[in-house]
This record gives sequence, C-alpha cells and structure tokens, in this order.
Amino acid sequence: MILDNRADAAARLILALDLPTRARALEFIHETEGLVGSYKIGSQLFTAEGPTLVRDIVARGQSVFLDLKFHDIPNTVAGAAVEAARLGVRMLTIHALGGETMMRRAVEAVHDLCDGEGLTPPRLIAVTLLTSLGREDLKKIHLSGTPEEIVADLAELAYSCGMDGVVASAHECPAIRARVTDPRFVLIVPGIRPADSSPHDQQRIVTPGHALRLGADYLVVGRPILESPTPRQAAERILAEIAAYCDRHLDTAESDLQGN
Ligand code: C5P
Repeated sequence: MILDNRADAAARLILALDLPTRARALEFIHETEGLVGSYKIGSQLFTAEGPTLVRDIVARGQSVFLDLKFHDIPNTVAGAAVEAARLGVRMLTIHALGGETMMRRAVEAVHDLCDGEGLTPPRLIAVTLLTSLGREDLKKIHLSGTPEEIVADLAELAYSCGMDGVVASAHECPAIRARVTDPRFVLIVPGIRPADSSPHDQQRIVTPGHALRLGADYLVVGRPILESPTPRQAAERILAEIAAYCDRHLDTAESDLQGN
C-alpha cells in the first residue's frame, strides 16, 4: 500500500526543467529517476534544444509536459498543438486568454489528428493567470476583478471548449472546483515551495501539502529542486509530503467506506 502510494505521489509531481541545455536536463532526469511523474519543458529549454530533445525524452519512456503556453490566432495555435501531439507529449499548454475560438480549434485539431492516426491525445491544459502576477500587475494590464474571479471564469471557459484542465495557483483551486465540478478536469499548480525555501519571483506560493488540500491534482516544482545543492533529496522531501497527503487521503477514503 505504501509503495503504491509512493507511485501515486510521484505521478503527481512535475519537475519544471527550466534549464539552458540538453546535458543539464538529462542530468536532472537521471538524478530524479523514480521520483517524478512528468518533466515540464518550457520555452527556455525548447528554444535552446528544440523538438529533438522532446522526442528523445519521450523515447526514454518519460512523460513530457510541453509548456509553451501557445497564444496566437486559432489557426496557428491549432497547428502548433497538432505538432506537439505528434511529438508524443502527454500534456501541453495553451493560454485561455487567447479566447474561445482558439481553444476550441486546438481541441478539435488535436482530436482529429489522434483519432485519424490512432495516437493517445495529450491533455490540453489552459494557462489562466501566471502565478507571478500580483494585484498591481493585473491592474497595469487592465485586468479587473480578483485573481480568483478571473481564474474561475477562464477555467469555466476552458472547460466549455473541451480543454482537459488548467494551470492555476493553489489559492484559486477551490473557486475553480466550485465552478467546474467534473473531477476529470485536472488542476496543475505551480508556485510550490517547501516551508523553508525562497519564493523567488512567485507571488502566490504554497507548500505541497497545502496545494493538495486545496484541490491540486499535479504540482509543478522547478527551482526548489533545480537550485538545491542536493536535488534528489529536495525531490524526496517534496515527494514525502505528497505521499503523506495521499496516505491521509486514503485512510479517510477507507474509513468512509467502512462507515467509520
Ligand atoms: O521554479 P518554480 O518552481 O517557480 O517554477 C514554476 C514553473 O511553473 C515555471 O516553469 C513556470 O513557467 C511555471 N508556471 C508558473 N505559473 C503559471 C504557469 C506556469 O509559475 N501560472
């Protein structure tokens, strides 16, 4: 049971490979073997190393989350999402602020491709608001309303377009769950910091356990592991916190079943 829980916990941990080179990315993949469910490739690593690295990591049997946050006219985003699906990534991101038509076209194009070619479709994940944006930043870009309201509206829009989940801050998870009740709609939460680590440029951070309690399905962690002098131990500590949550959750589910 404990071993299963650890595998379940690892599946929830996404390591953000915000790194400049293939060599460093492969080093971290090796270093965190068995502790991480997916590796997130964002704009830095993708710009440096391109789709070859994505294909190579997929070919090693690892799950890749391609976080290029597509945001363009519908035709361009649909084309980009199709190419990402061909790479074999398990998840990819599209900005919800790109609007309804853009998200719908991407969903249709990816499903048409995967149905036609017998591929497993990647999960299409909407980016709501970047967790680095505070209230003042939102005002400067003319976004009125609280982050919770904006995020819940964008999440609902993404769901209605057929998207599979959203990236959001942990604090927004309860508002999203209240608005989109389908449990298959996944919540991916960055801005995770173990209790004693630096917030860096993130404005809305939480600990791993807190994020899960607020409703996160997956946790994205970058610098707390990448900048640690002992990355494997840092990943182990985060995993232990996730596993402790899964244990408690399982205990509660079991006692509910037994009518306790
Ligand atoms: O280093 P850190 O743990 O802060 O990394 C967070 C990761 O999550 C980065 O790769 C960043 O691009 C991503 N992210 C985020 N906020 C969002 C969406 C993605 O921080 N709303």
